[in-house]
Amino acid sequence: MHKQLLITCFIFLTTVASGQKSPVPPYKNPKIPVDERIKDLMGRMTIEEKAGQLNQLNGGAFTGPAVNDPGQKAKMEQVKAGKVGSLLNVSGVAETKAIQKIAVEQSRLGIPLLFALDVIHGYRTVFPIPLAEACSWDLANMEKNASVAAREASAAGIHWTFAPMCDISNDPRWGRVMEGAGEDPYLGSLIAAARVKGLQGKLDDASHILACVKHFAGYGAVESGREYNLTDFSHSALWNKYLPPYKAAVDAGAVTVMNGFNVLDGVPMSAHKFLITDVLNKKWGFKGVLVSDWQSFDEMISWGYAADFKDAAMKALNAGSMIDMESRTVIQYLPELVAEGKVKLSDVDEAVSRILKVKFQLGLFDQPYRFSNEEREKTEMFTPANRASAREAAKRSVILLKNENQVLPLTNPNSKVALIGAFASSKDDMFDFWIANGSTKEAVSILEGMKARFGANLSFANGYNLDGTTNEALIKEAVANASQAEVVVVNLGITGKMAGEDRALARPEIPEYQIELLKALQKTGKPVVALVTSGRPLVLTKIQPLVSSILQCWILGTETGNAVADVVSGVYNPSAKTVMTFPYDVGQIPVYYNRFKTGRPFEGATDPNWKSRYRDMPNDPLFPFGFGLSYTRFNFSDFKLSSPTTTRGGSVTASVTVTNSGKFEGEEVVQLYIRDLVASSIRPVKELKGFEKISLKPGESKTVQFTLSDKDLSFFDNDGNPVLEPGIFHIFVGPDSKNTSQLNLELK
Ligand code: NOJ
Repeated sequence: MHKQLLITCFIFLTTVASGQKSPVPPYKNPKIPVDERIKDLMGRMTIEEKAGQLNQLNGGAFTGPAVNDPGQKAKMEQVKAGKVGSLLNVSGVAETKAIQKIAVEQSRLGIPLLFALDVIHGYRTVFPIPLAEACSWDLANMEKNASVAAREASAAGIHWTFAPMCDISNDPRWGRVMEGAGEDPYLGSLIAAARVKGLQGKLDDASHILACVKHFAGYGAVESGREYNLTDFSHSALWNKYLPPYKAAVDAGAVTVMNGFNVLDGVPMSAHKFLITDVLNKKWGFKGVLVSDWQSFDEMISWGYAADFKDAAMKALNAGSMIDMESRTVIQYLPELVAEGKVKLSDVDEAVSRILKVKFQLGLFDQPYRFSNEEREKTEMFTPANRASAREAAKRSVILLKNENQVLPLTNPNSKVALIGAFASSKDDMFDFWIANGSTKEAVSILEGMKARFGANLSFANGYNLDGTTNEALIKEAVANASQAEVVVVNLGITGKMAGEDRALARPEIPEYQIELLKALQKTGKPVVALVTSGRPLVLTKIQPLVSSILQCWILGTETGNAVADVVSGVYNPSAKTVMTFPYDVGQIPVYYNRFKTGRPFEGATDPNWKSRYRDMPNDPLFPFGFGLSYTRFNFSDFKLSSPTTTRGGSVTASVTVTNSGKFEGEEVVQLYIRDLVASSIRPVKELKGFEKISLKPGESKTVQFTLSDKDLSFFDNDGNPVLEPGIFHIFVGPDSKNTSQLNLELK
């Protein structure tokens, strides 16, 4: 007799014998192996119920356009009818419990729902935006911070976050760069893996949540940085630049992946069979769940790739896409598509069983409310320990971009400081869109943080209005404050509200009204420190000559003010390095360190004519990738290779000694880059292949070693196969991607 049938008979007989009224179906029996339970459940599901598992609806605040939204009551009726498999934007124990109860107790099969939310940088305790946090180059901390976010979110009934975003991007016009890890695929891969591990932990542990690798694939290449725009890149870029971070996240165990809004070779990601089926599933062995982005199935109609909802659902499902977020194409047309033979039932079953498996792995069939825990929701949110982690993360994210005459740190708490800038006191402008359950009311503003440090010695003036204007009176007041102070600290930049999805900016630069204010402050002759708030690198070229010091403060979350005060006062010596190039001018964008040399390079040319250059500005950015200063000084010396040659299968060690020759204890990110001089596909002028963050006391030295082996010296061909070619490589080490020393290595 078939094993499945045997189990069913056994359960039937035992329940009848024990006098119970209705037998427990095998899929509800925790003693039976999960795969058997899934098989049993699948055998009971109608095609409509299967479509339900592929249907994800919005259950709360909208994080995308509201189209055809029937309202919450109607959605709950659909839950009851088994027509919804997951909800996004629902959170909190009371709400998740109530909705789960409907699914479990009132739907025919009682299949639990998954609750998803964009927990991007914290749930209630808000951490720095991911881009800022990436600048810490501190993987262990990033993993820990992700686990704090997961702990808080899971205590509020959330099972699943749509993070980490693994999109490599070179374009600060794109508002979403705030969500990623910058422009480098090597660093981006390590960060993606760290974040997945921190978020997901072990699947059956209710203090972690499912990670979702997004936006698969290459969404960071949106043309002109405009959200939802076209992407059009080469297969070389696909394999070498865009895919590695997603792959690293999948290898780290990410259970879910989200389709991008973009296209490749003219095919929208939701219907990209090559990327989904051939690359993700077959080549990478992904066994998890794919979810569309918000309405990205039905948006194929607008792209001109699908004729209507039915066509969109068919194309998405046939490519290997699974959950339809907010389009309602699958729930409406799947039964028809299967009946007409346009979508294979076996494909539907594969997708549905993967989703059910995740629900089983999370333990939801046996304990549907295990994430909705009142006690944990009360005790595990916004704890002092979580806030301490957020503060640590925030100060490690701040980059010192300039520090002329060592104006910073302001170690004397009795220094008279004039803090200028309306953003410094506006809690409302501190946060970006992705703050989950965070509240600006609970956040520490820059004014509060600085006040706590400098007390009555701190004066404050707005200097400008929050609507992006200034006037004579505001400037006059700011100048009066500045004249009374020893040092002027100005909060510049753009509001946090301008960071994130749907926040593309054609001109990511310091607004003119702030330059006007800065010019007036400079005239006081007082040293001026700029605190730049932004969710992306801004063009800082105009402010650079007007100030002594620049601290790139990004969007730092709940502990912003405390962290900024820690850095300004030297309680923390800045150690962050930018993971995105700061352009010299918007006209340079995209500008990035791992560029290609061209056939007519300008750099190093004796005759500048007929070379690849701008006539109206330098080619170089303002601040290169990997750049960031410290209050102390680090010297690099004794850079060596264990051998000038290596062979396939061999390895070579690069070592360099770093000495803290300044007065403060500090951390340095020692960076190693390579360049493959001649290859069958042109290679970037520099590629990061290793780094180590070290801490040194004044006068202390450390020797850092990097091992280079085949993987570091190889690249992907246009079909995604690794290629290792003999020849000369330049090996560079340094404190950033520009100021490096170089040695030659030959691969024989
Ligand atoms: C659209 C965004 O692109 C995606 O990143 C996000 O997770 C979903 N909306 C859900 O809010």
